[in-house]
Amino acid sequence: MADPWQRKVVIGGCTLYLGDCLEIMPQLGRVDHFVKDPPYEAIMHEALAGGAARKGLRADGYSSSRELDFAPIDEKRDRVVDLGTQCDGWFIAFCTPEGVGRWADAINASPMKYKRACAWIKPDAMPQMNGQGPAPGYENFVCAWAGKGHSRWNAGGKCGVYVEPCNPRDRTGGHPTEKPWRLMRDILFDFTNAGDLVADPFMGSGTTLVAAALTGRRGIGIEQNPEYFELACRRVQKAVLSAQQLGLAVPQVQPDMFQEAG
Ligand SMILES: C[S@@+](CC[C@H](N)C(=O)[O-])C[C@H]1O[C@@H](n2cnc3c(N)ncnc32)[C@H](O)[C@@H]1O
Repeated sequence: MADPWQRKVVIGGCTLYLGDCLEIMPQLGRVDHFVKDPPYEAIMHEALAGGAARKGLRADGYSSSRELDFAPIDEKRDRVVDLGTQCDGWFIAFCTPEGVGRWADAINASPMKYKRACAWIKPDAMPQMNGQGPAPGYENFVCAWAGKGHSRWNAGGKCGVYVEPCNPRDRTGGHPTEKPWRLMRDILFDFTNAGDLVADPFMGSGTTLVAAALTGRRGIGIEQNPEYFELACRRVQKAVLSAQQLGLAVPQVQPDMFQEAG
């Protein structure tokens, strides 16, 4: 049987696949955690198509000239939640505030234990310039426990609130909804452990894997868009090299640091 991916690239402890995650992920066996940033709900895509993107507003509240070039999550949410059966730890998914209840309903209908919605506060989000209502200044991510027994994390009694600019100086700008790598780093530190295998089946430009490489986690990333896939490969390669130069633990580093396979 042919592989369900068009490309597979191994970089350090990270493996990146080009193709449809709903076809590829079930072939990959168990992972420790899903930390993913799937497409937004249709309501956000429609708002962007209805003018915000044309006016140069980015989905995450900062300025950009790019529209979203992928379909909303709504039709696929249940199949993404089904992937939770492949996971032995945290199932984390970013979403709009409007999407929290939809994710919670889908997760509560699965074997996973829904925990709560955390918030990513964006201190540099764009104001609502027309003054007709409040601007969006945060996103959520829902977290559910897919493992056995009680859920575990590394942050004690800390609140699930993360404050991180959405437009840091080192944002690549190559993806319309690029997450800050420092945000993903902090989430990996709190929810996962060194050496864990973390999967992001909607990796976009690869930010979750960049954070995995920089924190000594292993990563699986899947992206359907070849342009974003190439960008993710470049970013992960740089992160793996940086981690090595800084003497950080990078599991399973390949001798040539960038190896094509499959
Ligand atoms: C919200 S973006 C992720 C952005 C990412 N966090 C980053 O920092 O660049 C969601 C990504 O999922 C991809 N995608 C959508 N459906 C997919 C599918 N079925 N399989 C693989 N990738 C998919 C889109 O092309 C898009 O790049």
